[in-house]
Order: sequence, then structure tokens, then C-alpha cells
Amino acid sequence: MDAEAKLPKGTVLSASDAVSIRLAGRIIKMGGLVAFPTETVYGLGCDAMNAIAAAKVFEAKQRPQFDPLIVHITDLKQLEMVVGSLPALAQRLMDVFWPGPLTLVLPKQPVIPDLVTAGLSTVAVRMPNHPIAQALIREADTPIAAPSANPFGYVSPTTAQHVADGLGNTVDFILDDGPCSVGVESTIVSLAGPQPELLRPGSITIEQLSSIIGSIRQSVSVNHTPIAPGQLSRHYATQTQLTILASAGARPILKDGVRAGLLIHSHPRDTDDRFTAVEVLSSTGDLREIARHLFAALRRMDSLGLDRIYAEPCQEEGLGVAIMDRLRRCAAR
Ligand code: TXA
Ligand code: MG
Repeated sequence: MDAEAKLPKGTVLSASDAVSIRLAGRIIKMGGLVAFPTETVYGLGCDAMNAIAAAKVFEAKQRPQFDPLIVHITDLKQLEMVVGSLPALAQRLMDVFWPGPLTLVLPKQPVIPDLVTAGLSTVAVRMPNHPIAQALIREADTPIAAPSANPFGYVSPTTAQHVADGLGNTVDFILDDGPCSVGVESTIVSLAGPQPELLRPGSITIEQLSSIIGSIRQSVSVNHTPIAPGQLSRHYATQTQLTILASAGARPILKDGVRAGLLIHSHPRDTDDRFTAVEVLSSTGDLREIARHLFAALRRMDSLGLDRIYAEPCQEEGLGVAIMDRLRRCAAR
């Protein structure tokens, strides 16, 4: 029974082993922290009904307590445990996009600890599409509150190694299932106000959402007042200053001796060898590929002690909206 107690903190175990999932579920039930893969990014999970466990998540991430967590569920019984009432529009979005990378902000049940929702009357809830995330929630037999498994403000993790690098032994256990397929965090839509509102762009695009529920207010890029701290202008950020180039083909003038990195989604130019590091996110400009590779590439660049990172912008359409949102937040100072 105490096998997990003997595991050093921060142990990375393959999620393909059923024993790992069982241990992870037990750790969650006992009030511990487990980092686990989702289709978007790795999450730092705890029992969503346990305020003491939630406090450990905030501490591990050094996250301010005014920033609420997303509650992850696997079935409608858990949805009822978490959500107070379900507007008709929520049902339509759930029918189409769940399980998947869409988070809905809805009126909450009083049983959810205030710490999880930062004292708000709403809760952010999502049903992930990742088999390991689903297996873990089922095994723990409770909704799992999980922010991205990175120190607050830093780039989200898309591999188990990223989690270990950033949080190390502040987490009890890291479930490894390889790189995340989507690579940017879930789209967040609030249905708690008079009108649907996009709080964070993600891989479910505004066009996809509108085709199901009609018009959606976009507070994100229009209005910079943060409603959700994920909307803080500097977030998802590297230590190294990042600059977004004026256009995809544009290149900066580099002073002698400057060590710069370049993130591109086109073929490198002959002259790009003057950059210390070049990362090709997708040689064909495919937005899904760019999103999938973005955070890992930013982290690799950030580990090189460069003077600056330059990134090509992509078209702000579809998934490109989320990619540009993350690049802008990384670039903000
Ligand atoms: O893809 C994702 O959503 C990942 C994976 C692990 O599921 N999670 C994630 O969590 O990105 P986090 O904590 O890094 O971002 C959650 C965002 C925060 O910006 C938070 O402020 C917002 O969701 N949020 C949570 N509850 C909210 C609420 N009740 N109202 C408005 N925003 C909320
Ligand atoms: Mg985060």
C-alpha cells in the first residue's frame, strides 16, 4: 500500500503502465499532487473537492490565489457535482466539443472549495480527451483541479520532462505519456454572463464556436483588463526577451556578437545561419504543427542563454489566433 510513499517526489513514471495510473489515482485521493498529460498541455492535478490539496497546487506553482483552477471531469455525474446549472448553450458546446480542449465557465456548486475558484461564483470545467487524463480521473474517482504544470507565468509544459524541469520535487508524481498533441492550452468560454464570452483562445476556434452558438464576445485581444489571470498580458513567458517579427519573411538586423534565436514556420533562408539557434515549427506553415511544437521550441531556446528570441508571426485566423495570443503574451514586458 505504501509503495508510493517510497517513491521520491517528482518521480516520472510511464503512464502506459496500469500500476502507475492506480498509484497516481491513490495519491490524488490522499490529497497529493500528480502531473498528468492532457491533449493540450500537462496539468498539475489535485482532488478538486479538497481545499488543502488545492493549496499545495498554488504553492507548488507559486501561483497567486486570485487565479482560479480548471476542474477536469470524465462524466456527466461529475459535471453535476461541479456545476450549479447548465445553460442550453453549454449543452450544445459540450455535445460537439467534449471530450476535448474546450473549458466552459459556468455557475458553480457550493461544494467546490473557494480556493479552487478564487472565491468566484463560477467554475471553469473541462472534459479532456486524453485517455490517460480520463483514466486518472476515473481512478481517483473525483473531479481533478489542474492548472498547467509549470511555475506561474512560465511557458506551459508539453512533455513530462518539462514538468520535471519546472516543478521537480514539489509534485508527488509525474505521469509520462509523451508530447501533447495539441500543444496550446484549452479554449476558455464563459457562459456565466448575459452573453457567451471568449476568455482565452485555444485550438477550438472562435469560428467553430460561433457555428454552434452564434456570436461570442471576444474580450481577449480587444480589452486588456484581465478577468482571468491567464489574460494577464505577460504570461506563458520565456526568461529571454522575445520579439515578434513584422512579417513571416522579415529578419532583424543583428549587431555583432549578439546571440539570437529564430522561430520560423517557413523554410530557413541562407542567411539564417547568423542566428545561434533556428527552430522550424512547421516547414509548411501548418498551424496545428506550429501549435504542437511552439512551447517545446520556446523552452529549448530559453535554455541557451540567448540575448533575444525572434519569432515569425502567423496568420491570425483559426488556430493562428491562439498561437499569436501566446506569442504576444510571451513578448510583453
Ligand atoms: O488546456 C488547459 O486548459 C490546461 C490543461 C491542464 O487542462 N490547463 C490550464 O490551466 O491551462 P491554467 O490554470 O494554466 O489556466 C486556466 C485559466 C486561468 O487563466 C484562469 O484564470 C482561468 O482559466 N479560469 C479558471 N477558472 C475561471 C473562472 N471561474 N472564471 C474565469 N476564468 C477562470
Ligand atoms: Mg497556465
